[in-house]
Amino acid sequence: MAFKMVSTRVTSISESASVKLAGEIANLRSQGNRIIGLHIGEPDFLPAPQIARAISKAMDEGKVRYSQVAGEISLREKIVTEESKNSPVDLSIDHIVVSNGSKQSLYNIFQTICDPGDEIIIPAPYWISFPESVKLAGAIPKFVDLVENLQLDIAQIEKLIGPKTKGIIINNPSNPTGVIYQKDLLHQIGELALKNDFFIIADEAYDGLIYERDHYSSFFHLDEKFFSHTITTKTFSKTYAMTGHRIGYTIANNEISLALTKLQGHLTGNNCTFVQYGAIEALNISSNEIQAQCDEFKRRRDFCFGEISKILPCVKPSGAFYLFPNVESILAPQETAKELCEDILQKTRVAVLPGDAFGRPGFIRIAFTVSMQDLTEAMNLLTHYFNQRKSS
Ligand SMILES: Cc1ncc(COP(=O)(O)O)c(C=O)c1O
Repeated sequence: MAFKMVSTRVTSISESASVKLAGEIANLRSQGNRIIGLHIGEPDFLPAPQIARAISKAMDEGKVRYSQVAGEISLREKIVTEESKNSPVDLSIDHIVVSNGSKQSLYNIFQTICDPGDEIIIPAPYWISFPESVKLAGAIPKFVDLVENLQLDIAQIEKLIGPKTKGIIINNPSNPTGVIYQKDLLHQIGELALKNDFFIIADEAYDGLIYERDHYSSFFHLDEKFFSHTITTKTFSKTYAMTGHRIGYTIANNEISLALTKLQGHLTGNNCTFVQYGAIEALNISSNEIQAQCDEFKRRRDFCFGEISKILPCVKPSGAFYLFPNVESILAPQETAKELCEDILQKTRVAVLPGDAFGRPGFIRIAFTVSMQDLTEAMNLLTHYFNQRKSS
């Protein structure tokens, strides 16, 4: 009998398209090719220097042992202070669990709340890892298409709610679209969750990159009553450029936080102890500095959106650092967006990702996470390429 080395569980999930492409690009670069990488969701600037100093100091002081599984008390206290600003909920450190990036937080959540066969509603397009982390928990992703202006379709969501519904993922602002969901729609989702007893998994990875602040609300800030049914994930990766540090956290009620901690205790234990001190320092960065960063991304958003939307239909992103234009008008018959992205890479040496990876074929995702200089070059190459395609 053939030796089945890899489990059905792992065989059934797909490789992250962005991680895979990053590998291919690294290969191309090692052969001397210059590639402008607009494929990966990672800020191009380095974390503020005081973060590295705080980590180094923590190591010097011997903070290199296991910490509490849910995170150092001082970090969770700092998170509570920050998260309590504008919060209608009286938060405590018992609501916070620090993990190895919000990727792990999401994995923890689905393992913790789902039984086999439970269903999680996922608005599509979605971030690549959502369906896979749902499947790894033995649960079933139920996709619902976003509608006009890539907003939530409450009627279609309602149709998917049944006895097996355990949650809905609300990624706001969204990766890959950059859209911020309207508050009235979020309210309606909150009411549905309370009425039908399911969770809102609120992925707020991009809450530090909001270009239209008045339109945005963290889910549990909408109304205190939603807190019991909301599990929020946040990360230091995007706002503080701490992608390699692997640190994020959940905010949830006591029962869920205890269960997440129990699971994590057997999985990774605590997040790297000294990195947690860097995270405390990150939270000390002034809101002016964070705003300046956000303003830089807004400048890039305005430039790239201006260029791309002249040629391709595209919803203007209100947050995060992605454009998600529709490329159907430039696809050859039978050609997929994946094939288009391969052609773009070959002909222009600009890397972008196909919408297929995000559950929306016929679109591409462009990350404006490189310098204005590189973006200017990339937009020249892309617009020239798209125009040529249009006229051929
Ligand atoms: C929507 C969303 N959630 C979570 C993550 C994971 O972030 P990290 O694991 O670095 O905290 C990402 C990363 O791209 C993301 O786009």
